[in-house]
Amino acid sequence: MTERPTADPGSFRDPDNRVFTADRQVFRVFNRRDAADIERLIRSEAFEDMVELGMVVSTEVLEPADIPGSITSLPDPALVVRHERIPFISYPYEWSFEMLKDAAALTLDLATRLLDHDYILKDATPYNVQFAGARPVFIDVGSFEPYEEGPPWDGYNQFCRLFLNPLLYERYVGQNFQHLLRSSLDGVDPGELRAMLPLRSKWTKTVFTNVVLQDSLSRRFEASAKASSEVSGHVIKRGAIRRMIRGLRSSAAKQRSQVRRSSWSDYESDNTYDQRSEDAKREFVESVLKRTQPGVVWDLGSNTGAYSLIAARHAGYVVAFDRDPQVVDAFYTRLRADPGGPTNVLPLVMDLVNPSPGQGWGHTERKSLADRGNADFFLALALMHHMVIAGEVPIDSILEWLASVAPEGVIEFVPREDPMARRLLLRRSRSHGEYSADGFAEALGRYFTVGDRAELPNGRILYSVVRKV
Ligand SMILES: C[S@@+](CC[C@H](N)C(=O)[O-])C[C@H]1O[C@@H](n2cnc3c(N)ncnc32)[C@H](O)[C@@H]1O
Repeated sequence: MTERPTADPGSFRDPDNRVFTADRQVFRVFNRRDAADIERLIRSEAFEDMVELGMVVSTEVLEPADIPGSITSLPDPALVVRHERIPFISYPYEWSFEMLKDAAALTLDLATRLLDHDYILKDATPYNVQFAGARPVFIDVGSFEPYEEGPPWDGYNQFCRLFLNPLLYERYVGQNFQHLLRSSLDGVDPGELRAMLPLRSKWTKTVFTNVVLQDSLSRRFEASAKASSEVSGHVIKRGAIRRMIRGLRSSAAKQRSQVRRSSWSDYESDNTYDQRSEDAKREFVESVLKRTQPGVVWDLGSNTGAYSLIAARHAGYVVAFDRDPQVVDAFYTRLRADPGGPTNVLPLVMDLVNPSPGQGWGHTERKSLADRGNADFFLALALMHHMVIAGEVPIDSILEWLASVAPEGVIEFVPREDPMARRLLLRRSRSHGEYSADGFAEALGRYFTVGDRAELPNGRILYSVVRKV
């Protein structure tokens, strides 16, 4: 091992185990009394099944001789495991509605399976789930602990705040949930949600039980120490925990987003592209990707992923970013619905003019987009005009940023006479006089060397570019 393992800044909350990375490998170090119980579970057939079914990240117990030296020097490492590396780390505020639902279902299915084997999931947070392509996978085996009958399930509140309440918000308030989770890493408080929900929703069983009642109970507990000590003394049977998990599973699964379809939802079938231009664009993009065979591609402004799917045929992994949660949801649902489809595409909600910041303790617990590495290749197709005209970001700043994203890519320039650019310009008071084909080509030359260039029948221009060092 060439690199010294560094502790993952997002894994400090659990004092019993910690994640380290080195040389693109991921280790989890347990230094607690019940490391033996975890090891028994990891070595069991039940765990093997969970990995085989894709529920839990592939995990291998390291023999003492295989443990990297600098990890053994940590205080009291009782057990060290190595996890399969997830290609790109994402957070729940970057997922679409159906992604959050699938992560919720995975968490609860896993909780049920663990109970079958005398273990329990000690928490229920979406931060313990990652997406490998469009497949959710549980990554935190440090959350598994031997089951002991007695206390209520600790995961309940967390599940509601971080999974169920955001889903209920999107369903009943009709707004996207991502901004709520981005602004509160602890999720949505039942009291806050209760105040936002329409009256009609409060009589549904799901909302009444998990929002209204929970809010009332927590107010009561806050007001009276006696009331909370009464509840903490109750013995909760395993069957009751199972029933609760089953109830939550069906409550989450039946939620449907009630956010109106966005203007981008039908872009793939309803756009200003004529067939000849579209064919020429696809051919250009595919030929560059075929030649380059990149490792990781970032498709920026991916919409429902038409070009991400082309990239997936020639790249190791594709991360498809779009600011519109509805189109990301449509792309995710399409990937999930196609069992023979690509497994190397991850769609994410990301406003590239306001990308995810570093958040949590020390600004590092949840990494900013920039801190999560970069790509080998980018696609910026029919995106620049949005960032320049609607986002009001100077062309030079965008090109400088693109050059930091990846060493190579394809950029589409949409001239100001194009109907889409005209529509954006109409809504702006600034003339954006600097937005011209010549000005763009000149700016491009400051950051990139242009390889191929193609002018499409509809007047748009495609450039394949390599960044200047
Ligand atoms: C014209 S479509 C292009 C889709 C695809 N790249 C193509 O070439 O067919 C533009 C897409 O960019 C997305 N978009 C616009 N501004 C964005 C931003 N600031 N961050 C991320 N996506 C953005 C829109 O939501 C839309 O889906």
